[in-house]
Amino acid sequence: EQIKKGNYEHFMQKEIHEQPHSLTTTMRGRLRDKSVILGGLKVHLKTIRHSRRVIFIGCGTSYNAALAARPFLEELSGIPVTMEIASDLLDRQGPIYREDTAVFVSQSGETADTLLALEYALKNGALCVGITNTVGSTLARKTHCGVHINAGCEIGVASTKAYTSQIVVMTMMALAIGDDKISTQARREATIDSLYNLPNVVREVLQRDGEMKDLAKSLIDEESLLVFGRGYNYATALEGALKVKEVALMHSEGMLAGEMKHGPLALVDESLPIIVIATNDSCFSKQQSVIQQLRARKGRLIVMCSEGDASLVCHSGSCRVIEVPQVADCLQPVVNIIPLQLLAYHLTVLRGYNVDQPRNLAKSVTTL
Ligand code: G6P
Repeated sequence: EQIKKGNYEHFMQKEIHEQPHSLTTTMRGRLRDKSVILGGLKVHLKTIRHSRRVIFIGCGTSYNAALAARPFLEELSGIPVTMEIASDLLDRQGPIYREDTAVFVSQSGETADTLLALEYALKNGALCVGITNTVGSTLARKTHCGVHINAGCEIGVASTKAYTSQIVVMTMMALAIGDDKISTQARREATIDSLYNLPNVVREVLQRDGEMKDLAKSLIDEESLLVFGRGYNYATALEGALKVKEVALMHSEGMLAGEMKHGPLALVDESLPIIVIATNDSCFSKQQSVIQQLRARKGRLIVMCSEGDASLVCHSGSCRVIEVPQVADCLQPVVNIIPLQLLAYHLTVLRGYNVDQPRNLAKSVTTL
């Protein structure tokens, strides 16, 4: 086991730091100049373009990855994209039709709820697409078509490198589906350029390890942590909070910043730490006003912003800032989750908990 961990103390730590490499293998052979080639979807692209709805279905981190990719798929395809947590879809027996494309996202390809939802969608006649890290898994075998994320084996129970590779695969899927539209060509090409550079940017962000360890030290005794995000980074808020709760065993909630006034604001005081994700995209000015409102209530803020924007989000040192490099807006969730993965990792080690096998959790939940 020690050999497999290399120079790292834990698998989660290794898998976080492996991401420049895992993202490279995810994209390998799939980017050609200014276009994306996904062999597993090729013959089905026309059917997907003509579907009346795309439904993303998954659990846990895989669901969050789909949520991160949703806005870009909506934008490039023009097709309504809805989100389903597998168990909830089954509880409701929600309507699924022949004209739907159901995209199942699962690292293991063996999650019981996701597989049951797949049976259900197949029965209802939808085109079923699988996005998984596991070649030969039940999900890979039972879907009509799909894309392997090729992130390499993930051992830590808390998913890290699979999350970022899932987002990249679903972004590439959006690019392939939208490939027939001239009107978005410039947008697609800019995104593909950003994809080529993404592993380098992730490598740069991983240098912030020490900074995130310091932040973890300042949060070690907290009982609770809120994370606010919106737009592309609503998913980052959910996933960052999920990491903290599942490994550091600290209560943590990811929240949609647009909902702040409708309840969460009541929690804000001088002691509760709040992370606000405010990197530069079309939601930036709205996030600036969220920060102002939180500061007016003396909130204890940690703001994640784009490099060079510290003075725009935090005046006179009133909050702690995490600066990250800016990439294409739809890929920013891949960059923004890295500091939060590092934070969750260090918090866990400092609090003395089991990083790779958090209590009560399993890597793959294969029973209902
Ligand atoms: C479990 C794991 C999570 C994972 C979820 C979905 O809860 O602990 O890390 O995100 O299952 O797993 P899947 O293999 O379907 O992505």
